[in-house]
Amino acid sequence: MKIAPSLLSCDFSKMGSEIERMDKAGADWMHLDVMDGHFVPNLTFGAPVYKTVRKYSDKPFDVHLMITDPLKYIDDFADAGADIITFHVECDSPVDETIDKIKSRGIKAGLVIKPKTPASAVFPYLEKLDLVLVMTVEPGFGGQSFMADMLPKVREIKTECQKRGLDLIIEADGGIGEDTIAQAAEAGVDVCVAGTAVFKADDAAKAIAKLKSMCE
Ligand code: DX5
Ligand code: ZN
Repeated sequence: MKIAPSLLSCDFSKMGSEIERMDKAGADWMHLDVMDGHFVPNLTFGAPVYKTVRKYSDKPFDVHLMITDPLKYIDDFADAGADIITFHVECDSPVDETIDKIKSRGIKAGLVIKPKTPASAVFPYLEKLDLVLVMTVEPGFGGQSFMADMLPKVREIKTECQKRGLDLIIEADGGIGEDTIAQAAEAGVDVCVAGTAVFKADDAAKAIAKLKSMCE
């Protein structure tokens, strides 16, 4: 299992050193949540802020766009140093065109589904995608409870990929911690985002190691 700490739970006054801390603690990816106060009822940061912290780790930067019109901002996040960009299938941008735009910048592309969206919503795009992110909370805030009833969607997507001979990464985001990660692993999740569970732990390295060990 790969662990992607969500910077949404970091100390924003020292984002650079928080990224360094996660890098040293054994994070596999850095997960950066972008919210526009429209697609979700919360605001975070945009590409200019993330560009300034890119230098604090060589690990892949996994940018999760919770914004209404992601297509408009792909170039900005590409220029800021994103390695992976995921956006919501429920957004207003044309999905095919947005995936193409991400890939044209040499970045891995992923689609995200909210809890009320069925797994089948991503099926038309599977051939073009590198990754699918299944939300295990309603997007917008850290620290919410894990929705175990989202895991059948992970299995459905895995099965569909196997049927088509595709090897996509499945990521899960929201409410993942010591009590929930084993279920996600068992369902076939490859990468778990973890905000609260890692940033609020006394020892981030221990927390990440523990999360990984619970998936073995
Ligand atoms: C929620 C974000 C998540 C969130 C996860 O909209 O996409 O990445 O920060 O935080 P925890 O792990 O605390 O649920
Ligand atoms: Zn996220």
